[in-house]
Amino acid sequence: EWIGAIRRHLLDWYDQNRRDLPWRKNKDPYRIWVSEIMLQQTRVDTVIPYYERFMAHFPTLKALAQADEEEVIKAWEGLGYYSRARNLHSAVKEVVEHYGGEVPSDPDAISRLKGVGPYTAGAILSIAFDRPVPAVDGNVLRVLSRWFALGEDISKVSTRRRMEELDRQLIPEERAGDFNQALMELGALVCTPQSPTCDTCPVRGECRARKEGIQEELPVKKKG
Ligand code: ADE
Repeated sequence: EWIGAIRRHLLDWYDQNRRDLPWRKNKDPYRIWVSEIMLQQTRVDTVIPYYERFMAHFPTLKALAQADEEEVIKAWEGLGYYSRARNLHSAVKEVVEHYGGEVPSDPDAISRLKGVGPYTAGAILSIAFDRPVPAVDGNVLRVLSRWFALGEDISKVSTRRRMEELDRQLIPEERAGDFNQALMELGALVCTPQSPTCDTCPVRGECRARKEGIQEELPVKKKG
């Protein structure tokens, strides 16, 4: 069946090509959460040393919750966008207060935490809890718009929603987090903004943009 074969291709490719990143060592929701907040505005290569340093300072959610804000900001130093650190800090304190220090796996509860938008909620739910929910970031938007040759403006909220619906239908019940990370990894390593290396792509046989030769023209992103 088409969808089963595609999922298998993508997951097999991920198993063979995934980078050994520090937040992929285990599925601790707190570790995943911190990584996703850092990765929101900062590239993977830049994040790695800051992530290692931050996790050495605050190895557990409780350790972070108990710290002074000043100490948290200091541990974040160099990464910028300090509201991310302040929101994360107040959200982990909320988790200690309301959820006994365990990151909630309920979509509504997790979405109410400070600084946790739809992308971050989807990433934590799928990667840490293996819930089959979308986590559509910039890389995934690019991959999906090429795969299905969708020329809609990716800076529009309506486009993002459509892509989330598409992802929701593709995502398997099992290994949901790996599937989402496979899409992210594909965008980072193969389906790159310039000169994508389609010859090595696990979905090359199914990619509509490649079939039409328009992979370099997608995604469409209007300025402004
Ligand atoms: N960018 C955002 N989340 C990521 C993840 N889990 N792995 C790699 N890149 C990412």
